[in-house]
Formats: sequence, C-alpha cells, structure tokens
Amino acid sequence: MENEAKKKVLSCIQPSGMLTLGNYLGALKNWKNMQEEFDCTFAVADLHAITVRQEPAKLRSQIYSTYALMLALGLDPEESTLFIQSHVPAHSQLSWLLSCYTQFGEMSRMTQFKDKSAKHADNVNVGLFSYPVLMAADILLYKPDFVPVGADQKQHLEIARDIAERFNGIYGDVFTVPDPYIPKIGARVMSLQDPTKKMSKSDENLNAWVAILDTPDDIMRKFKRAVTDSEAKVCIGEEKHGINNLIGIYSAITGKTSDEITAEFEGKGYGDFKLAVGEAVAEELRPIREKYDCIIKDKAALEALYREGAEKAGYVARKTLNKAMKKVGFVL
Ligand code: TYM
Repeated sequence: MENEAKKKVLSCIQPSGMLTLGNYLGALKNWKNMQEEFDCTFAVADLHAITVRQEPAKLRSQIYSTYALMLALGLDPEESTLFIQSHVPAHSQLSWLLSCYTQFGEMSRMTQFKDKSAKHADNVNVGLFSYPVLMAADILLYKPDFVPVGADQKQHLEIARDIAERFNGIYGDVFTVPDPYIPKIGARVMSLQDPTKKMSKSDENLNAWVAILDTPDDIMRKFKRAVTDSEAKVCIGEEKHGINNLIGIYSAITGKTSDEITAEFEGKGYGDFKLAVGEAVAEELRPIREKYDCIIKDKAALEALYREGAEKAGYVARKTLNKAMKKVGFVL
C-alpha cells in the first residue's frame, strides 16, 4: 500500500568497465538518496553495452560487478527493484514497437551518436544509432515520474519524452512522461587531466578518471596530479576548468558551497586543496569498496537477488508492454 502513494523513479547504468566518480556523483549517489522517498527501479543496462564490441568473459564479469556495486552503494533489493536489463525481454520488445514511432531524423541529431560513431568509425552499427529508443523503452515500461541521470543523458531523456507524448497522442494515456532529475552539483564531472572533457571510463589516460573501486592511494595520486591553472587561488573562474571541476567534486561530497570552499582555502595553495579533495573522495568511496569486496565473493547470493529483481521488474514491464501492444492492434 505504502508504495502506491510514492512517486516512481527509474534509472539504469551500463556495465561497461569500471564505474567512475562521474557515474557516482552524477547518478548513483542520487539513486541511493532517492530510495526512501520514491518507489525506485534500477537496472544494469547490459543490452546497451554491446553497441560497442565487448569481450564476452569481460562483459559477463562487468555485469556481475555492476550489480554488486549497486548493492554496495546501499541500494536495497527489499526496498527497490534491482535487476539486469536483458533478463526482462519486454525492454527489447517495446524498443521495436517504439522504433516504429521514432523518426530517423531525430535519431540523427543525437550528439552521443555523433561522438561515438566518430570514435568507433569501423563499427557504426544500427544498435548504436537506435540506442536512445531502447533507453526510451527502459524508461517508459516503468512509468517513472523522475529519471535521475547526469547531464550527458539529458538529450536522450528528451527524446524519450517526445516518443511518449507522440504515442500517447495517438493512442491515449499509455505512458507517463517523465522528468529528468539532474543534480545541481556533480551532473558533469570532468576529466582530471583535460577538464574540458567529461570524465569517462573509456579515457585511455588512467589519471584522468577515478574509479569508484580505486584504492585510497590511487585516488590520492590521481588528485595530486590533477591539472589546474597558474593562478593559485581556489575559486570559480571562467577559464579555471580544472579548479572549477575540483570545487564541484568537493562541493558534491561535502555539501559545502563554492564560497565556503574558497574561504576554507584562503591563503593556501592548490597542493593543499587537491589533497583535501582527494581525501574527501577516498573517504566517501572507502565503505563502498569494502562492502563491494564482500558482496562480489558470493555469486549465489547475487544470483538469487538479480533473479528476484527481474521477476519484480518483469511483472511491471509486461503490463505496460501489453497495454501498448493492445493499443497498436496486436492480438494478445
Ligand atoms: P552511463 O552508463 O554512461 O552512465 C550512468 C550514469 O552516470 C552518469 N554519468 C556522469 N555524470 C556526471 N559526470 C560524468 N562524468 C558522468 N559520466 C556518466 C550518466 O549521466 C548516467 O546517469 N544510456 C545510459 C544508461 C541507460 C539509462 C536508461 C539511463 C540505459 N537506459 C534509462 C536512464 C534511464 C548511459 O549510457 O549511462
């Protein structure tokens, strides 16, 4: 009964490699914070991962580890629905349906498609192109009110809203049109080596990104080497991309405003500031890594949880899928 009154939240994360501090501050930290107030559904978006070529054994282990990390973050399978996307076939099924209500032109405008197809010019596959339709299906199946994501997913969310509105416009009220939930601070964590670029796990420079599972020593080393500027004043500035990014990270973790941070480091150099940011990050992530190390050892327990999660998710997803299919005219 209690859940019926709560607003709904859905989000997913790809199991592609080590998850980063960007994933954490842009999305995962909010997932945890939203868990009590909302009826939450979170998934490992494994189907999305194969738009770029994956090594099978590595993909398998990353799916496990991403699910384990969701648990280590404090997402509670009793309270929220935690599952693996490919275990619920309704995602692929609705994706096909929705692709017939999505225009080629709108997909061509997606900036992530343009970036990724430039980066993987030898494998510009149809899945990479229609990826936002699958993402729309992920979302619309669960009728969420909010979708917590980092700023880079905003365009994909807008297309999901457009598709929902278009479908509802033809067939009546089938989908909920969700609102993005993008944090004010931490929505776009930048590379520590080139702070004009988004922090990304696919960055070949390992000092550019912090993994959620990095050791405190690694974290400290990466922050000590973070690129800054020559002004030596800890404050927000138009051309101070590196310091702006570090202030954003420190603020997202400590809850301090940028003015409070400037005051705290008045008269101190960048060295002290970088150490403080590194320590704050290391302390924030330490309990997650410790919990993860325990959880990942028990594959049987993990399996029981993701199977149960898929059952819960599948029940909800099938209901929405069936409704959409019936409206279109399929015989059920
Ligand atoms: P993915 O797996 O790339 O990233 C997962 C979440 O982390 C956020 N994020 C960041 N936030 C701040 N700074 C960064 N540097 C940073 N890097 C990543 C992302 O915005 C995202 O919220 N297509 C999605 C996964 C997905 C999904 C969905 C999300 C599939 N289906 C349905 C929401 C709803 C993706 O590739 O995220």
